[in-house]
Amino acid sequence: MKRLDGKVAIISGGVQGIGRACAQRCAQEGAQVVICDIQDDDTTVQEILAAGGEAHRVVMDVRKREDWQRAVAETRERFGRVDLLGNVAGVVNMLSPDNVVGLTDEAWDTVIGTDLRGVWLGMQAVIPGMIEQGGGKIVNISSLAAIKGLENLASYSAAKAGVMGLTIQTALEFSKDNILVNAIAPGTIDTPILKDITDEMRESNANSHLIKRLGRPEEIAGMMAYFFSPDGDFCSGLTYPVDGGWSVNGRNW
Ligand SMILES: NC(=O)c1ccc[n+]([C@@H]2O[C@H](COP(=O)([O-])OP(=O)(O)OC[C@H]3O[C@@H](n4cnc5c(N)ncnc54)[C@H](O)[C@@H]3O)[C@@H](O)[C@H]2O)c1
Repeated sequence: MKRLDGKVAIISGGVQGIGRACAQRCAQEGAQVVICDIQDDDTTVQEILAAGGEAHRVVMDVRKREDWQRAVAETRERFGRVDLLGNVAGVVNMLSPDNVVGLTDEAWDTVIGTDLRGVWLGMQAVIPGMIEQGGGKIVNISSLAAIKGLENLASYSAAKAGVMGLTIQTALEFSKDNILVNAIAPGTIDTPILKDITDEMRESNANSHLIKRLGRPEEIAGMMAYFFSPDGDFCSGLTYPVDGGWSVNGRNW
């Protein structure tokens, strides 16, 4: 008996990086998985199927309410229910400087729209069905940027701090309905989101962790699986740092 046997999970951002690792881990733990992503890419689904798991995908934009409604409807049609939601899709600002004065409206709206509004819309889409079926679990991806000041990440840290707040509020409202809502605040994880940073920045990020390396996507997926599984049944409203100790590092290097 696997920990997520009989569960149906929606994972946003599941085409690559942390979302892909979360989708694969949920499938390994026995869940039927629906990958929701703006990229029209079948790789994660094929990998899960090849490993003997069950998966489906929906091409959608987490910023759009109608896309979330369609994703939930397709999931129910395919697998009958939604038990678990992993809100992983996210972006960083590549459109302008990400400081309070230099940030453009377009960049602000893109980051807040994806990383915060997208998380809200995902929860809004699944919660009514979870209430009807007697419960569910949600894990949102925040960031260490919500906890610590990090340079040139104004829109991103605002969005990710918003995710922490929204996680608390949703847990407050729905834990009584057996819907448990938690978040994870990763340190710097080695995924395609880092493709534009210099080697120097990679090294400096690695060294900011007490554990002197970048994190692996699988290490975030492991914490998501913990929250989703019965092992996490007494957790709600938490934002748990999986950050190699960066959040307790008094020095930023
Ligand atoms: N990698 C890190 O260091 C790190 C640290 C802290 C938090 N995070 C967060 O973890 C999450 C995953 O990051 P990652 O590093 O795997 O990034 P990534 O860029 O590798 O993957 C992000 C995924 O989200 C999808 N996506 C982006 N915009 C979307 C939209 N509008 N609708 C649907 N899908 C969309 C992308 O297509 C991609 O598959 C993000 O929320 C990110 O902010 C990452």
